[in-house]
Amino acid sequence: MPARPNVFVTRKIPESGLLLLKKETDVTLNPNDRALKRNEFLEYIKGRDGILTQLNDKMDAQVMEAAGKQLKVISNYAVGFDNIDVKEATKRGIVVTNTPGVLTEGTADFAWALLMSAARRVVEADALVRQGKFVGWDPLLLLGGNIYGKTLGIIGFGRIGQAVARRAYGFNMKILAYHPSRVIEAPGIAAKFVSLSELLKESDFITLHTPLTPETRHLIGEKELKSMKPTAYLINTARGPVIDEAALAKALKEKWIAGAGLDVYEKEPEVHPELLKLPNVVLAPHISSASFETRSDISLLAAKNLLAVLRGEPSLHRVN
Ligand code: GLV
Repeated sequence: MPARPNVFVTRKIPESGLLLLKKETDVTLNPNDRALKRNEFLEYIKGRDGILTQLNDKMDAQVMEAAGKQLKVISNYAVGFDNIDVKEATKRGIVVTNTPGVLTEGTADFAWALLMSAARRVVEADALVRQGKFVGWDPLLLLGGNIYGKTLGIIGFGRIGQAVARRAYGFNMKILAYHPSRVIEAPGIAAKFVSLSELLKESDFITLHTPLTPETRHLIGEKELKSMKPTAYLINTARGPVIDEAALAKALKEKWIAGAGLDVYEKEPEVHPELLKLPNVVLAPHISSASFETRSDISLLAAKNLLAVLRGEPSLHRVN
């Protein structure tokens, strides 16, 4: 690698990774506490040997061209890498890496947080108490759906989907799994693999754990939502465009399904305006991996990936 490679980190990240990068490279950090605007971004990335990117940094041909021919690695601070034009990077000889594994358990925890919040109306309950509307025990106040003993449908049965499944044993749930792209091994996990239509019809809770690809875009639309039980809940901690958000807003408003818990949106940071008005959906700002431990581990792994490529070593997690 060049004596001191020149690295750009597009957002402030936990220290663990930054310290590692600083040992071997000259690091420039986005000085703002916000994502860079496109024109700023195009300036900042010029002449870098490596870029450590966030999932909302769109890494397309224009960006790669602006960075220059010396760019060797784009290290994404995320497991999902739909923000990167991987084909274009490959064409230009740029290695792309991601951070699988380290966020599996944290993300599975959060899928459960959304599931339980949606089913038992935790957010509505909190709002009611804060608004001074808790006027005493009420046998019919804020009734929700039971979780224990119900059927959990997991769409995308990779690392995170399986981690969600393991947590379901404590709730004595029946697990249905659908994995869109290929047959997948799930050793030791008692799940029944079914078709998407069977999963939609039979599940009381459906949780999404697929990457965003052309095949999974709008995997859940009007037809799919209509085939769910009216008592069912839909949870999304994967990527927003896996659901047709307008169709979901309609489904929640017209009660085709009971509720939803969302951490991701079709056009982040925008949220469909109808969703913002509905009480039967819990809305989170893309924080499934946002635990101290997980974000520190992501930082470290993204830095390790980037350094390995610059050193000419096999990277831990290259996607191209
Ligand atoms: C978060 O959304 C990730 O892909 O890591």
